[in-house]
Amino acid sequence: MAVTKEEVEAALNGVLEPEIRKPLVQLGLIGEPINAWGGKLVVPIGVVADPLPYEEALKSVVLEALAKANLASKIDVELRGLSQSDLLRLRNLLKPPSDSEAQTVANPIGHEQGRVNQFMESGTKTRVLGISSGKGGVGKSSTSVNLAIALAKKGYEVGILDADVYGFSVPKMLGISRNPLLIDDLMLPPVAYGVKCISVGFFVSDETPVIWRGPMLHKALEQFLVDVYWGDLDFLLLDMPPGTGDVALSMGQYLPKSEILVVTTPQPAAQRVAQRSAYAARQLKLPLRGVIENMSWFVGDDGKKYLIFGEGGGKELADNLGVPLLAQIPLVSDVRVGGDDGVPITASAPNSEVSRAYDALASAVEALGPARVYRSELKVRG
Ligand SMILES: Nc1ncnc2c1ncn2[C@@H]1O[C@H](COP(=O)(O)OP(=O)(O)OP(=O)(O)O)[C@@H](O)[C@H]1O
Ligand SMILES: [Mg+2]
Repeated sequence: MAVTKEEVEAALNGVLEPEIRKPLVQLGLIGEPINAWGGKLVVPIGVVADPLPYEEALKSVVLEALAKANLASKIDVELRGLSQSDLLRLRNLLKPPSDSEAQTVANPIGHEQGRVNQFMESGTKTRVLGISSGKGGVGKSSTSVNLAIALAKKGYEVGILDADVYGFSVPKMLGISRNPLLIDDLMLPPVAYGVKCISVGFFVSDETPVIWRGPMLHKALEQFLVDVYWGDLDFLLLDMPPGTGDVALSMGQYLPKSEILVVTTPQPAAQRVAQRSAYAARQLKLPLRGVIENMSWFVGDDGKKYLIFGEGGGKELADNLGVPLLAQIPLVSDVRVGGDDGVPITASAPNSEVSRAYDALASAVEALGPARVYRSELKVRG
């Protein structure tokens, strides 16, 4: 008996397109199956690029689901590049063009038709977490990447926006070496370890003079929010550049619901600088939610804890700012190695002490819940 498209769709029910992260059936990407000679079933799947960089991942989820349904003795998946008109249909399905005046007003930057900043919409469920620190090298990017993976492991939809114009290290840390694909004019972020990633590094070459980058960021950030298909994110993490600078200002404008987490190392000097970035966030009315102390200790081969960078800085900073200390992350060379190799520790060694510390951080962030937007101008006068 010939296998029908309905049967194939039933077998693939709930199977996600790996990078769009929506069901293939819902996206209308399943073609008419071909019942070939000898009981072989060929299932065509529409793809956004041909060749598709994540072809293996797509084929394997589809084949696995079809094999489970026992539809045929031999099954083949045939990937077919979508036509321009199908890409446009898909684009409009993913991000319906907006022409309503209400939306235009609610989204001051989404003024052109179809250009909507989803993170500014009133019903957005996405929590935006800005990972900041006053100074470089304290572990913002490592924290962003590993916290993102820890949240994804809990079943959340997570994206990272690498807004570090000076450093852009997130794609490398996630092992991503390709640029976003396009669905018509919509950018599709590459996915690694269940985390979607967009980076300034995809658009700026290493040769771009650093002094041009700051001013570029404001416009670039707008683009990253409006022209990227982020989907239904639970969390969007921003790896912020070091310092108090421009990006916090842009976030205040484009991501007014951002919550700020400050990363610091345990010594007092780092703490004072971190405090400055925290005050900058306060001035922009971005709620500061907590402190993450990184490189808190090192456990030697002798099993002893060594306090290489001193002690107590995270707690003191948290107390000064009146927010909780959310985590203490130990100094472990595998964190660096994982970052350098593009296989973060939370993915490669999920049960290690440091991965459990990132899991605990994810739970602490989860437990905090979304920030309530506080507006001082609405305060009752006493
Ligand atoms: N807990 C840790 N244990 C060991 N190495 C770590 C840890 N956290 C970060 N590192 C390493 O320290 C270096 C700096 O970390 P990272 O790049 O995350 O910091 P950053 O604050 O983002 O720096 P930048 O300001 O340059 O963007 C990296 O080589 C990273 O792998
Ligand atoms: Mg960094």
